[in-house]
Amino acid sequence: MAERAQAGALASADPVAGSPVYPIGSRINERGRLEVAGCDVVELAAEFGTPAYVYSEDDMRARARATVAAFAERTDDFEVLYASKALTCTAAYRLFAGEGLSCDVASGGELHMALRGGFDPERIYMHGNNKSEAELEQALASGVGHVIVDSLDEIDRLERVAAGRPQRVLLRVTPGIRPDTHHKIATGQEDSKFGIPPAALPHAVERCAAAGLDLRGLHAHLGSQVFDLDVYDTLADVLTNAGDYPVVNVGGGFAVAYTRDQRPPPVSAYAEAMLARLPDGVRVLCEPGRSLVANAGISLYRVGTVKEVPGVRRYVAVDGGMADNIRPMLYDAVYEAEIADRFGDSTPCRIVGMHCETGDILVKQATLEDPRPGDVLVMPATGAYGHSLASNYNGVPRPPVVFCSEGDARVVVRRETYEDLTVRDVDDD
Ligand code: LLP
Repeated sequence: MAERAQAGALASADPVAGSPVYPIGSRINERGRLEVAGCDVVELAAEFGTPAYVYSEDDMRARARATVAAFAERTDDFEVLYASKALTCTAAYRLFAGEGLSCDVASGGELHMALRGGFDPERIYMHGNNKSEAELEQALASGVGHVIVDSLDEIDRLERVAAGRPQRVLLRVTPGIRPDTHHKIATGQEDSKFGIPPAALPHAVERCAAAGLDLRGLHAHLGSQVFDLDVYDTLADVLTNAGDYPVVNVGGGFAVAYTRDQRPPPVSAYAEAMLARLPDGVRVLCEPGRSLVANAGISLYRVGTVKEVPGVRRYVAVDGGMADNIRPMLYDAVYEAEIADRFGDSTPCRIVGMHCETGDILVKQATLEDPRPGDVLVMPATGAYGHSLASNYNGVPRPPVVFCSEGDARVVVRRETYEDLTVRDVDDD
């Protein structure tokens, strides 16, 4: 009993154990440093350099399994698709293919990478609001299981490309539901570039039949970071009113915690809400991206300049920024940060990047423990849409992706080199 009480006290003294933000299994080790998947992140920074995206493979696997289990407990007929735009690299495709997930790709490039990462084409769902004929040809040639048709014009293109082959398709519907999330990542509202309005569905269904396509069902994606689960009731009503189909894909959007005060619903609550009002006998698909990878990943930076503007604020500048994490700039996303071997909050400051823009701010209002040049800074919950949205702005090579598991770390995407920055240039003098 006393032992358990002591263990409890230790666990609560550890700021990352049990945190909703850090990868599952993270802890502060005996040297006072953050450890992720058994790897000391100060050592990782020394070995792989900074900035770096570091992931716990164990965390990603655990979340994939939890998502599958949440649906398996409630229905016999379902599929979990990895929305691969959240972390687009071969190793991530391989990991989720290995976990038995299916895959959502949003372009020919993602399709190429999914195949390279070992996904069975039959398990791939091809998305995109403006797929080119070339992309559709690529999808059919590689044997993609389902194309998610986004518009009436796309049916014309697919008809030409399929030339009588009965490609399986889902029709993406615009359900007219606006979830409570950032406007740039809401997709379900009527005024959207995505999908076919319910009123145009009967015509789309006829066109699919005339084109010889095998229409299997409907798809809708309401948006990302959806905290309020009531929207799935409305969605189920919209989809069931649109007709009886063997397959219904209710999209992704499972919310994650970016800061410790955020408490997204558990994945079981999403499964419950998504399934509640759909009729029995329908095969239900969901396609989470962020929730499988966001909290599995952290970013490591090195602190360079610490500058005090007297009476105004302290700036802590790191060796990355908007090119490796554009989310604060794009969506006003709020993140936590810590010095990797000195967690604490003695010093209010603003964490900024090294890019030539005033808006290159990673954390507007941070509190760090006495930040100093040379410190390793960790930003948790950067696993989704960090690497995928990264750029070479200011000629900065993109960071590596490092996967960690049970104390071992391996580079799965190498850091770019300066040579990489000119390798596509064809302006020989
Ligand atoms: N399905 C479809 C059709 C989608 O468009 C998306 C995301 C997903 C699934 C996966 O959504 P998730 O489960 O990851 O929320 N760059 C933004 C997110 C854009 C999401 C675009 N589509 C961000 O960093 O927040």
